[in-house]
Amino acid sequence: QFPAEVRIVEVGPRDGLQNERSPIATADKIALIDRLSETGLRTVEATSFVSPKWVPQLADAAEVYAGIARRPGVAYPVLVPNEQGYERARAAGVEEIAVFTAASEAFARRNINASIDESLRRFAPVLERAAGDGVRVRGYVSTVLGCPYQGAVAVADVVRVARRLHALGCYEISLGDTIGVGTPIKAREMLRAVAGEVPMAALAVHFHDTYGQALANLLACLEEGVAVVDAAVAGTGGCPYARGASGNVATEDVVYMLHGLGVRTGVDLDALAGTGRWLAALLGRETGSRVGRATAPA
Ligand code: HMG
Ligand code: MG
Repeated sequence: QFPAEVRIVEVGPRDGLQNERSPIATADKIALIDRLSETGLRTVEATSFVSPKWVPQLADAAEVYAGIARRPGVAYPVLVPNEQGYERARAAGVEEIAVFTAASEAFARRNINASIDESLRRFAPVLERAAGDGVRVRGYVSTVLGCPYQGAVAVADVVRVARRLHALGCYEISLGDTIGVGTPIKAREMLRAVAGEVPMAALAVHFHDTYGQALANLLACLEEGVAVVDAAVAGTGGCPYARGASGNVATEDVVYMLHGLGVRTGVDLDALAGTGRWLAALLGRETGSRVGRATAPA
């Protein structure tokens, strides 16, 4: 019933940190990525080459990328919003990128200062150059189960944007419940509708846990056949342009659930939970992972 194996896309260093108010040292970001890459994770989203005015926390993207100990077999994608970001990323040696837009117009406007169509037009040359450079491109669709500005989002809008990103050449489309308002049946129906147009093997799910629904939503989507899951260690995260959005689903909690279901992840849960507690200590708060808390040494 469930996929035999799930690939986890660890988004902690990017989605997890982008919204942190106090500056985090570049060396600490590098240490986080290196620790994560030693847990068996195969994808660690490292940072964003976005405008530093929009996301000041990730202004050190090039330094972070240059500092990581790239481990063979681990991909380190970065977010890129436009050609300028693509050029910065390539100059830093990046080999995989992610472009991002939304299913809701209001959110696209606030997050990337463009309409959905404008954002897709911006991505076209980025995808063209990436194809020529042998750079893999992932695509994100935000607000797939609700928007902080517009409210409800039609499933048809999610399907349309996901299909267009796939047609532009994104090898995988991550469907993001940016503000964590979804519930399992809605999540399943949304995924099923998108999978009618984009192969399930090219889809990923990305849940935030604002309303405590992330694992339940995830389970419903696993039953539907999705085999790529985004998560952030220690449950960090939130989008600066999504008021009220709390953390991503914690990677530790996802791995614990998957292993309990008999699904392979390749991730060493103890090492991951230790990294989550290390990060929480660095940020000066308790880990957002329930597994991280439950397995903390006395
Ligand atoms: P804009 O202000 O419309 O851009 O922003 P612009 O092209 O007019 O440029 C304005 C200034 O920004 C210029 O500088 C550019 O050089 C500079 P100035 O001349 O004023 O000195 N600039 C850049 N600098 C560095 N790197 C760049 C870059 N681009 C322009 N790439 C823009 C448009 C898209 C750039 C901006 O809105 C932006 O960077 N937005 C990013 C917002 C963001 O990162 N949000 C969080 C990620 S999305 C998310 O978290 C959701 C997700 O997790 C899934 C989910 O949960 O749903 C993925
Ligand atoms: Mg997110």
